Amino acid sequence: MKKVLVTGGCGFIGSHTIVDLVNNGFEAISIDNLSNSEESALGRVAEIVGKKVKNYAIDLCDLEATRKVFAEHPDLVGIIHFAALKSVGDSVSQPLRYFDNNLNSLLNVMKCAKEFGVENIIFSSSCSVYGNTEVLPVTEDTPFQEAECPYARTKQMGEQMLRDFVVPNKNIKTIALRYFNPAGAHESAIIGEAASNKATNLVPVITETAIGKRNSMTVFGNDYDTRDGSCVRDYIHVMDLANAHTKCLEFLMNGKNDANFEVFNVGIGDGVTVLEAINAFEKVSGKKLNYELGDRRAGDVVAIYANPEKSMKMLNWSPKRGIEEIMKSAWDWELARTK
Ligand code: WQD
Repeated sequence: MKKVLVTGGCGFIGSHTIVDLVNNGFEAISIDNLSNSEESALGRVAEIVGKKVKNYAIDLCDLEATRKVFAEHPDLVGIIHFAALKSVGDSVSQPLRYFDNNLNSLLNVMKCAKEFGVENIIFSSSCSVYGNTEVLPVTEDTPFQEAECPYARTKQMGEQMLRDFVVPNKNIKTIALRYFNPAGAHESAIIGEAASNKATNLVPVITETAIGKRNSMTVFGNDYDTRDGSCVRDYIHVMDLANAHTKCLEFLMNGKNDANFEVFNVGIGDGVTVLEAINAFEKVSGKKLNYELGDRRAGDVVAIYANPEKSMKMLNWSPKRGIEEIMKSAWDWELARTK
């Protein structure tokens, strides 16, 4: 059985990726310190895939504890490294916490991959590495602008660490997957976005407002130079994103990579404004959303969306769901978890 270590496996993208991995013949184990997730997510994953998935509730910044997990699983074919702090806003106010957590956890993953001979690493990177780029849609060759926040900086630095790591360690193959905006939920509504910390991402804020957990929500700025004044993002359904990870693992295991560090954009190539996203939600839910137009949010880029051609061509991957399916699945999940 092809066994994969998924760090952050109890989280939003991690849990959905484990579903796709198991549905494609892989076995998964998770390391997740539960700082922004709950182990019960893997119980719900088991309901979907019919198999238990073990989580090691240890901190990846603890090298000895991490080494013990690798020693227990000498048959790992790969690592998918999701575990990281990811709030744009929090990273501005807590830069040291972000550098310490996001960089030391990656460092320990690399040290253990080298020590225990795990040859395939997929790194959860982000479109935020591009910064406030003028060039749209972005390709993998679009140069980085200044990182808009320390979170984005840790993703830029993480990619550089991997680039340098594989130069002397030629047996190790790595991919940086640059996510655009992950959203939505598994169609069963058994798993979805359920961060332990208060949601700041647009789609859960929309569904929590619609169901009454919040009285209203704010559109952060409608005076940008975009078609309706609100920011543009490339929202990708979490199950499409999950499948991109499985395809990356197969890509590396089949030796299809040209270099030992490859980068892929994972977006759908469609830019949607905040107001258009809200309209899509109202259309699929039949609910009128209570929102107000407010000030811009620090750290936001005006517009960003992907050119996904390289991923579609080289990974044999293609996104299957658009903004309406994102909103429908997110709403179904919100309804199910609020029962
Ligand atoms: C999207 C748009 C907000 C909330 C995300 C992830 C981050 C990283 C990069 C992967 C922005 C607007 C939001 C609200 C709003 N992901 N908004 N009112 O900032 O693009 O960052 O992608 O690595 O982890 O967070 O996503 O959902 O926070 O914001 O108007 O209440 O929605 O201003 O324009 P963002 P987001």
